[in-house]
Amino acid sequence: MKLSSEEKRILAGEQGEVMAKVMKTLVMYGDTFGAERMAKVTGGKGHLVTSFGLSVMKPVYALMDTLIEAGALSGQQFTVDPRPLDPKVPSGALEKLLFKVMYSKQTAYEAQLKKIGLVNDDGFTCTCYMNEVGNVPRKGDVLSWAESSAVVYANSVLGARCNRNSGIIELFGSIAGKVPYFGFLTDEGRKATWIIEVKTTKKPEPQLLGSAIGMKVMEEVPFIKGLDKWIGTDLSRNTEKGRAAADYLKDMGAATASNGAVGLYHAEGLTPEAKTSGKSLIVKGAKTYIIDDAELERVKQNYPCIWKNTAVSPVLCFIGCPHLSVDQLKSWTARIEGALAQNGKEKLSIPTVFTAAPGVLKEFRKLPDAEKLTNTGAVLSEICPLMYMNNPLCAKKPVITNSNKLRTYTSSRYYTDDEILLKITGGETQ
Ligand code: F3S
Repeated sequence: MKLSSEEKRILAGEQGEVMAKVMKTLVMYGDTFGAERMAKVTGGKGHLVTSFGLSVMKPVYALMDTLIEAGALSGQQFTVDPRPLDPKVPSGALEKLLFKVMYSKQTAYEAQLKKIGLVNDDGFTCTCYMNEVGNVPRKGDVLSWAESSAVVYANSVLGARCNRNSGIIELFGSIAGKVPYFGFLTDEGRKATWIIEVKTTKKPEPQLLGSAIGMKVMEEVPFIKGLDKWIGTDLSRNTEKGRAAADYLKDMGAATASNGAVGLYHAEGLTPEAKTSGKSLIVKGAKTYIIDDAELERVKQNYPCIWKNTAVSPVLCFIGCPHLSVDQLKSWTARIEGALAQNGKEKLSIPTVFTAAPGVLKEFRKLPDAEKLTNTGAVLSEICPLMYMNNPLCAKKPVITNSNKLRTYTSSRYYTDDEILLKITGGETQ
């Protein structure tokens, strides 16, 4: 890799031994992926994936102490993924005890994050790019992020440039203000090698469409045709239509990134680069994947359910992985109210947790909808459902979700939004 004289001086120890190691790590990482040089991080804020104070992550805490002592702090402030704990989320006594032991380092770790550059106490969410959170990259910004759902959103919906980095590497990029120039940072790396033709007869479920695309293209870049027919061509978060389309792509993208390893997609007539460059983004010889109703059904039917007893009634439902927007919370409130009235009920029949960013929940709580939703027994939380599920006790619980990411990484069972609505409002007994 060709380094600038400043980068060479840092590597030689001009800013101390710890900064030299930070730079050395980034250079080794870049060399591994054939990077030509370093690129300057230009996005306003970073975003870290490691938000949890797991007691076993001792090397991370030691590393954080080393960075803090050496003054190797983040050159930019950062947001971080959601917290793993929230006492409001229904849990048994044994689970509570387990969480206490598992995440015994949470408070100490959060103190370390603050010293290094965490934006504030409300910076814990995977949807850092929402206006209410304020970590919104501009088109062309170079980022040092790792959370896969946020990276795919920033690259695709906002037109920023970020690789699917791993945890800690993204922190090092924020500290140094540099990231290796390869992959999605380059024009070539942003070209599509797959054409996806959406030919459904109705608006496809975003979580299913993303899952189908992800499992087909894996880490390659798809160019999606036919989606504008269903969600329009506006992606501005300043209009209702634009926010709805952006939320759709948020959920679809998270599924592409977790069911496969997609870090960037283009949607014809919709996403910023597809709007400006169109089909010139597609490489010669790109493969084609046609998605129709039957294909989506095939994908859904093939999801394994790893519950011991698949006939058992669910004990918990998570909605909001990735975290929900204010509009999505409002929409769920209206749909739940309507369905409960139709089913002659007042309360949800399955304990249901709606998760969103702290800033989003603050805005939502200003609306009458928040009280309406919590009056049904629903819980509003800032938690990461995956962190909640990721232990032997919760893994045994029959939990349902509308998130294809949560289904992929945990024992939870996936249902579409309509199916979930029926189940939690008592329209279906199981
Ligand atoms: Fe966000 Fe946690 Fe899901 S980080 S995307 S809520 S797994």
